Parts: sequence; C-alpha cells; structure tokens
Amino acid sequence: MSKKLSLAVLLSGNGTNFQAIIDSIEKGQLKAAIKIVISNNKDAFGLQRAKKHNIKNLCIDHRDFEDRESYDLRLMETLEQESVDYIVLAGFMRILGPNFIRNFPKKIINIHPSLLPKYPGLNTHKKVLENKDKEHGVTVHIVDEGLDSGPIIGFIKVKVEDGEKESNLENRIHKLEHYIYPKILSEFQEGRISTIDNKIKIDDVFHKNGKEYFI
Ligand code: GAR
Repeated sequence: MSKKLSLAVLLSGNGTNFQAIIDSIEKGQLKAAIKIVISNNKDAFGLQRAKKHNIKNLCIDHRDFEDRESYDLRLMETLEQESVDYIVLAGFMRILGPNFIRNFPKKIINIHPSLLPKYPGLNTHKKVLENKDKEHGVTVHIVDEGLDSGPIIGFIKVKVEDGEKESNLENRIHKLEHYIYPKILSEFQEGRISTIDNKIKIDDVFHKNGKEYFI
C-alpha cells in the first residue's frame, strides 16, 4: 500500500473541486491529506469549506504585493514549509510565474474546463457554444509556464446538446471535474502515474495527448 499523498490546494473562488477532493478523502477513496489551502481572495468560499473541515487555510492576497514576483515568492515560501507531494490548483485564477513553476517541477496540477489545448483562459463554455463545437470537456494537466498549458494527464469528453444553455453545459462540466480530479489524484497516490521527460505514463502506457477517462 503506497503512502498517503500530501496536498496543498490553491483556489480563488467557490471551491467545489476542492470539496470533491475532501469528499473523496472522507469516503476513503483518495488516500491523501490536505495540509494547507491558500486563496488569493479572502472572500473565496473555498476558505469556508476548509474551516468547516478543519484544514489549515490562509489568504495571501495578491493585492498586498508590489508585483507578481514578490507574490509568487511568498506563496513559494509558504508552500515549501509544508513540503507537500503535489500542489493542486482548484480554480486558482492567477498565472504563476516561471520561478514558482520551476521551483516545483512536475508537482503542480491543474484542472481546466475545456478540452485543452482548446480554449485556455476564461469563458470556455461560452466559447464552445459560440463556435458551435460538437464536443466539450475537462482536462487535468501538469502545469508549465504557459496559460493552462503543460503535459495533459487526462480528460473527459461530452457531446454538446442541440440548443444547450451555457449554465447547463457548465453544470455538466462541473460534474465531470468532480469525478476526474479525485480519480487522477488517487492514481498518483497509487503510483500509477508518472511523468518522464514531460511525457505522461499511466499504468505503463505513455499518453501523448492525455488519457481519456469515462464517467
Ligand atoms: C473550475 O471549473 C475549474 O476548472 C476552473 O475554475 C473553476 C473553479 O470552480 N479553472 C480554471 O478555469 C483554470 N484555468 P470551483 O471553485 O467550484 O472548483
């Protein structure tokens, strides 16, 4: 039995993905401990979730810092003290600078509501509908220095329904997120996922463009 994963979670908002990770741990499905939750936004509901579950939490507000470098440095120093296995971005709406990324190689994981590399950034559901895409989805990836970029671990695809409203699509994508994020973290915990030269290997198979998961 491999050891528990120790995680830090960074978030900016509601924190439903964070909640899905907590729920999975509490059900005994994901063998992990969340050592710290950090938000850049003091009003993030995710911080309330952390309090409710007695998880160490703090706000490091980017507006209190002169520039990105100094913000990232404080974040980095705080995270180093926790020495976690992975830094999990769960709706953390800030770009992390290259020094931060290089300090935690292959240890930062992100979830994004699109089939990357399509639609990095914001308003992904809206863009899918505007472009009349037939499919949409969610992607989990290792974070590199770009925006929502880096080696893709896994994704789930869904068909966009005819005449689908943005709010409906968003809800469906959220459900997929809440499934795939804890699932992939538990595969890390089980030692099934590794990154070799920026290539993702899951259960002895290399996945150039990530592995497709099904719910
Ligand atoms: C999620 O949809 C997540 O994929 C997205 O923010 C939302 C956070 O929701 N992340 C990004 O867009 C990263 N580029 P949550 O706070 O309810 O977990």
